[in-house]
Amino acid sequence: MRTTILFGGSNRERLVSVASAQALHQALPEADLWWWDVEDKVHVVQSKQLLEHSRPFEDEFKPGTRGIPLAQALDKARTEDRVLVLSLHGGSAENGELQVMCEVRGVPFTGSGSASSHLAFDKIAAKRFAALGGVTPPDGIALENIDDAFAEYGRLIAKPARDGSSYGLIFVNAKQDLVAVRNAARHEEYVIEPYIAGVEATCGVLERTDGSIIPLPPIEIIPGEGNFDYAAKYLLKSTQEICPGRFTAEVTEALKTQAMAAHRAMSCTGYSRSDFIVSEKGLVYLETNTLPGLTKSSLYPKALKAEGIAFPDFLRELIELAVR
Ligand code: DAL
Ligand code: MG
Repeated sequence: MRTTILFGGSNRERLVSVASAQALHQALPEADLWWWDVEDKVHVVQSKQLLEHSRPFEDEFKPGTRGIPLAQALDKARTEDRVLVLSLHGGSAENGELQVMCEVRGVPFTGSGSASSHLAFDKIAAKRFAALGGVTPPDGIALENIDDAFAEYGRLIAKPARDGSSYGLIFVNAKQDLVAVRNAARHEEYVIEPYIAGVEATCGVLERTDGSIIPLPPIEIIPGEGNFDYAAKYLLKSTQEICPGRFTAEVTEALKTQAMAAHRAMSCTGYSRSDFIVSEKGLVYLETNTLPGLTKSSLYPKALKAEGIAFPDFLRELIELAVR
């Protein structure tokens, strides 16, 4: 079976996926590299082209080769007996659509299947399922009630219901920010929640080839300038990510339990990473990422390291699970 790293995608998180692919390529140098472009065409890429792309979070990746449509590339993956390592985030790459296309063709791929991916990617459905699994999500606020909610809570947070990497995030700190939320919600569905003060935390979950599912050490996130938004995640150096986070034993345990519960509530497979706020009133669940960032500066690889799991070993197990 030939291992193929599929990266790119036609949504805005593709820039992050290029950086994940650089890290994956270094860990799996024998794997072929397939780039999925914004027009849903797939191109074979050489190692040099990927490694020489120096500003993956800001520039479009455009090596300029001729591509074939995604569906055709997946047919080819089937006939060539390939397993796809998904170095992808967001949009049709993480919402289950790509996963359906692979499943119907019998092409193995890493991570969660189509149904789990679809569920986890929709923050509204994910919150509902996670809550049924015993996890505590924040209250949701309907768009028509945002004025009253702003008056009540003083600060709100609004985010696209189906996106990642903090794209489209709006912090409502003043009345005029409500206009921005209303405008944004005209183009895509938004989730609106009270702003929850506290420490941001994230906890990975890993499925092993021996059948066990384990939580990784939770990470504490301290944004250097303002909030943990896209810039803080990928462009600024000032964010501190402390792994294992400096939480009490009780909070650490709760983060692990809730990340496992969210993973199970949505029947995720392979790996996932759930995000939380550790507030005065306890843990608040934000979301589950079925394709968490795997870049050099990403959280999941840090947690693997803290657990003593080498990145290439993690990938080898993930691939083994995919082909079973
Ligand atoms: N959605 C980004 C890639 C993450 O969760 O790491
Ligand atoms: Mg996300």
